[in-house]
Amino acid sequence: MLNKKVAQALNEQINREMYSAYLYMSMSAHANNIGLKGFANWFMSQYHEEMFHAMKMYEYVLRQGARVKLLAVAEPPAEYASPLDMFTKTLEHERYITASLNTLMDLAIKEKDHATKIFLEWYITEQVEEEDNDNDIITELTLIGDNPHALLMLDREFATRAVTVPTDFSKGVEAAAKAAGE
Ligand code: FEO
Repeated sequence: MLNKKVAQALNEQINREMYSAYLYMSMSAHANNIGLKGFANWFMSQYHEEMFHAMKMYEYVLRQGARVKLLAVAEPPAEYASPLDMFTKTLEHERYITASLNTLMDLAIKEKDHATKIFLEWYITEQVEEEDNDNDIITELTLIGDNPHALLMLDREFATRAVTVPTDFSKGVEAAAKAAGE
């Protein structure tokens, strides 16, 4: 059972996760357009992670017997100045997501909603990893500077990133996560 405030805040967070997916899908398309197929793969893997985050929350709201209210997803930018610009914007966005999850956690604590608090812990832990990865990549891209050879080496490395989250939600997120050994 979710109270109205918590249900509304979770619905708003589903929207933020959907926007995250949309943003990384846009970055993937841009990377493809400028010939960085490995970067395109990296961002498409990130898109799948975000869809998993959104679907996991969607299913939680339903399982708690509350209403899912899907909100409009904003249009992400289509153009980026450089690979470094894409990752700088990625980190900026992830910091915003971390802050929104912290606010959501504060609300769950205030409303004494222990189930939601436990549920959100997974997301907050995940954010530490996401921000850490983005920081590492920004450092690498800063070191690479204008060196095209080094950039192509990183592009090749990014081409190997595999999707590790479930992508088939036809039987629900929980079932998909179990099947994927999550
Ligand atoms: Fe779902 Fe990248 O936070």
